[in-house]
Amino acid sequence: MQEFQKTLEEIFRDFHRHPETAKEEYRTTQKVREFLEKQGIQILDLPLPTGVLAQVGSGEGPVIALRADMDALPVQEQTDLPYVSETPGKMHACGHDFHTTALLGAAALLKEREAELKGTVRLIFQPGEEINYGALAMLGTGLLDDVQEYYGLHTDPNIEAGTLGIRENAIMASPDWFGVTIEGKGGHGAQPHNCIDPVPAMASLILALQQVVSRRISPFSACVLSVTRASAGNTWNVIPGTAEIEGTIRTMSDEERDLGEQLIRQTAESVAAAYGCTAKVGYKRQSRPLINTPALAAFTTGLAEEMGIPVIRQEPSMIGEDFAEYLKDHPGCFVRVGTGIGPALHHPKFTVDPSVLSGTAEFLARTAQKRLEALRNA
Ligand code: NI
Repeated sequence: MQEFQKTLEEIFRDFHRHPETAKEEYRTTQKVREFLEKQGIQILDLPLPTGVLAQVGSGEGPVIALRADMDALPVQEQTDLPYVSETPGKMHACGHDFHTTALLGAAALLKEREAELKGTVRLIFQPGEEINYGALAMLGTGLLDDVQEYYGLHTDPNIEAGTLGIRENAIMASPDWFGVTIEGKGGHGAQPHNCIDPVPAMASLILALQQVVSRRISPFSACVLSVTRASAGNTWNVIPGTAEIEGTIRTMSDEERDLGEQLIRQTAESVAAAYGCTAKVGYKRQSRPLINTPALAAFTTGLAEEMGIPVIRQEPSMIGEDFAEYLKDHPGCFVRVGTGIGPALHHPKFTVDPSVLSGTAEFLARTAQKRLEALRNA
């Protein structure tokens, strides 16, 4: 185990030194392929520029998928790690270097145990998680059509290293974007009566949108609506012709997501109309809410306990995660891995404790093995 841990830490440090942002994971893709090839693991033909799809096992059903994301962030690293990012302005600030390494470890373990596997494990090294691209791109290849269950994990700087966080049902939100342009009629700052000023309409809209969550969504549902940017005009004595805002709404179910979008549109159009303005509303769906299958959250919790890994009940989060797309039509479970208490995900001082890599790899491998057995016996 010590040798295995050492190997994984070396790989991890290399990935951390060479972060690549979404859709540019060429070096990472190459390194993943090299490691898998060295283990004699079958790599499937993936019609995407970056990312790797591999498989271990009999090639026959049942089929379980394990997924890791590979991309870094456009963040300037501020840690003093000996393996600090060597690329200015880019950093593995979300631990995807850890995820990729842990999945490589799981791949190696599963390869060693290939003869005992009761089916096939598909290994997804996914590009572009941060821009909500990779999961849909992977699914779009059709190469996952036979997968029955999906498992993935994410580092967590709020959990002690070596502890897992698991929870059933909705655990992460749909991080959707909205933008509103309010159109009025510009003119002289001294003559508002000859204009249709969009600025007070914008101010009212920002406040009215806060009532969407507090007055229209059930208090038993989690929902966040943040207006994060507002802009109008460019000088002091001119009433601008337009004003615009943008922000994000996060919900934990498909129904509330539909309702949220509808209420943003309705509120924007009505408030603008009350001021004699019109509103153009944009709404962009990012990944859907991440909803863990309760029976599989229970299964992974039981497995972790059997392995002697401490488990806590994960706090849900309003952050998004495109692993959710895999669970749209299939069961599965997304687990949080404690990697030591420290600065938040995406923070320039974010770090993970790599000493839990081999344990995480073992947990992933066992999850796949045990689920194949369970499906075979079902
Ligand atoms: Ni992430």
